[in-house]
Amino acid sequence: RFEAITMAPPDPILGISEAFKADTDAKKLNLGVGAYRTEELQPYVLNVVKKAEKLMLDKGENKEYLPIEGLAAFNKVTADLLFGSENPLIKQQKIATVQGLSGTGSLRLAAALIERYFPGAKVLISSPSWGNHKNIFNDARVPWSEYRYYDPKTVGLDFEGMVADIKEAPEGSFVLLHGCAHNPTGIDPTPDQWEKIADVIQEKNHIPFFDVAYQGFASGSLDADAASVRLFAARGTELLVAQSYSKNLGLYAERIGAINVVCTSADAAARVKSQLKRIARPMHSNPPIHGARIVANIVGDPTLFNEWKVEMEMMAGRIKNVRQKLFDSLSAKDKSGKDWSFILKQIGMFSFTGLSRAQSDNMSNKWHVYMTKDGRISLAGLSLAKCEYLADAIMDSYHN
Ligand code: LMR
Repeated sequence: RFEAITMAPPDPILGISEAFKADTDAKKLNLGVGAYRTEELQPYVLNVVKKAEKLMLDKGENKEYLPIEGLAAFNKVTADLLFGSENPLIKQQKIATVQGLSGTGSLRLAAALIERYFPGAKVLISSPSWGNHKNIFNDARVPWSEYRYYDPKTVGLDFEGMVADIKEAPEGSFVLLHGCAHNPTGIDPTPDQWEKIADVIQEKNHIPFFDVAYQGFASGSLDADAASVRLFAARGTELLVAQSYSKNLGLYAERIGAINVVCTSADAAARVKSQLKRIARPMHSNPPIHGARIVANIVGDPTLFNEWKVEMEMMAGRIKNVRQKLFDSLSAKDKSGKDWSFILKQIGMFSFTGLSRAQSDNMSNKWHVYMTKDGRISLAGLSLAKCEYLADAIMDSYHN
């Protein structure tokens, strides 16, 4: 009975926010969760989102249930944004797009599809990866294993290892890839490396499965950040892509995203969509409407769309400035000769510092700086004003 249930451990990412909240020290910093903050370290609602919400209010739209697959206008623009509106796959109706509960919910729908239609097939996950990936496939009862990704020696991509592990996996495995701004390392393959990864995946008849949670946050450009997905799509292979609008539109709590399944015919796409709906119905019945309307209004309107791009460049730019300042502070303080330039090479919201678990504990226990125990810090939660303090904390944790 309930008495027999044991206490679950705190979540490695969201649990950090809870610990941060409980800390009463004024110097505290939350660099755990990947959520954008202003220079004043306040949450940020994009102006373009406020405009879209005002439009929605003015229109006086109702709150009726959405269809199981979500808001049609959202599903259209989300595929356009990802694949490019001129992509022939869209005209040929080869993509099954279903609205999901942000990135996690969309990944979970796809995981259920894999469990049901590819029994025993394995998902290959990068080592390391976003902590929730393993949870999602575990809960969906999809077996997974890891492929090499991060090389601590170079603080870069272990490309040879990655390719070798993908090659070695049983034919027809699903290869989970981060579309851009790899979480937690901030290290992406180069365009040339992407081509080679696509070659191996095709050779082995694997199915690429992209998680796109940071479109626009890696380079500041929505199109450039979709290049990896489009490269695979252009090869005519089957493909899964989960999308999230939590970060790029700051719609964290709206839980808005989508799963896209690229098929080789319109017929197959229609069948896949019908099955995704069947999976979604007992999970969440039908998805929430508010975030879907916001995205549809912004991406579907040229003026708002351009305003979004400007705001996103501003957010990405702020993170880049913080990245530079942190690098400068660390380089100035560190007399050991350690090369910190890897921080500048990493992209997106995060920096993978190389701090160990014990060093991360020192960061929070002594310095009140909260970060995930894998050594990841969210630069989106850092201000220019706090870079010196953070650099002091890192120096102390590294060298003592
Ligand atoms: C993160 O990695 O910090 C975000 O994706 C938030 C989350 O849900 O874990």
